Amino acid sequence: MADLFKDMLSAEESLFANEMALDFDYLPKELPHRENQQHYIADCIKLLLAGRMGKNLLITGAPGIGKTAAVKWVLREMEEKGLDEKAIPLYVNCWKKDTPHKILLDICGQLGYKWVQNRNTDELFKEVANVLNKKSAIIVLDEVDKLESEQVIYQLIEDIYRKCIILITNDIEWIGDVDARLKSRLVPETIDFKQYNLAETNDILKRRIKSAFAPNVWEEKAIDIVSEKVFGAGDMRYGLFLLREAGNIAEKKSSRKVKQEHAESAVEKLSDFSIRKEHELDEEEKNVLALVKENQGKTSTELYDIYKKNSNKSYRTFHRKLKSLEEAGIVEIEGDFTAATGGRVSRVRIK
Ligand SMILES: Nc1ncnc2c1ncn2[C@@H]1O[C@H](COP(=O)(O)OP(=O)(O)OP(=O)(O)O)[C@@H](O)[C@H]1O
Ligand SMILES: [Mg+2]
Repeated sequence: MADLFKDMLSAEESLFANEMALDFDYLPKELPHRENQQHYIADCIKLLLAGRMGKNLLITGAPGIGKTAAVKWVLREMEEKGLDEKAIPLYVNCWKKDTPHKILLDICGQLGYKWVQNRNTDELFKEVANVLNKKSAIIVLDEVDKLESEQVIYQLIEDIYRKCIILITNDIEWIGDVDARLKSRLVPETIDFKQYNLAETNDILKRRIKSAFAPNVWEEKAIDIVSEKVFGAGDMRYGLFLLREAGNIAEKKSSRKVKQEHAESAVEKLSDFSIRKEHELDEEEKNVLALVKENQGKTSTELYDIYKKNSNKSYRTFHRKLKSLEEAGIVEIEGDFTAATGGRVSRVRIK
């Protein structure tokens, strides 16, 4: 039998130097082309650190353009400078924690508060407020549009005295739909992140290549192909996917360089790529996805009829989960979704 592993590159020969640097949640050492936004965020926090009222911020912009990364970067910088002694940074992803109770449990975890068993949401909130009100806090609610209700934001505004609340969303309409009472208390300043242009995209990719690959393995033309594709899609996650994929393809071919043809093959694979992987979904999303898989092509209302037999969740919640799966590129909703309230029919299937 032929030696199956004959052509394999040895570990020292790998094209990758630090593949982890291509993970979506890896926070790179530098975040080029987001300096202005980072300064803006830092200025709001500085007010708080100077003993003044912090400003609340609403960060909007399309998926994959560095909103989460920019905020996390500022928080990390604060921690590295020891400033988290004065103002406690808290980060919660509302996609994963979409109820007040889950959010508070998450915050308790971040604060190292362990006595959470059998405590109701109000009790947890009191404990959290107790800790935070001894200092000040920066509370980031990422993917805030995925929250089941905005009540928890209201409570944070009312009962945490010295704070900066940073809300992040790619749903520009979200703030418009928020309760007027909440909006007037929140009065956030908005930073709208714009998509990167081609030159910026190219520069960001080059810097990620520098931290993830061995020196000089990427041919310029291959980088250009990836840059064009990512610029067209507008989402930097495509870039991370393509860099890794092209690197893998080049290695499989035992090439010592990532060449144009490898980048092209990676681009071809993009269509089977769903940005958020199934294992990143929350329990309810997994349930809804399983339901869609078993009932391909049914309408959303038909799906809900089946769903509610095993669940007491409202149509609104069901709709939100389905929308999340659509945004994640996992299911496809054909037609107008609001149809469920009595208009056109929308069919749902796995992409
Ligand atoms: N300027 C940049 N430099 C380096 N990497 C970047 C830059 N902008 C984005 N990225 C990377 O692209 C990926 C997507 O960015 P991020 O998670 O911040 O997107 P987002 O705007 O929060 O998107 P979503 O709305 O989908 O949550 C991350 O892995 C991030 O590290
Ligand atoms: Mg994000």
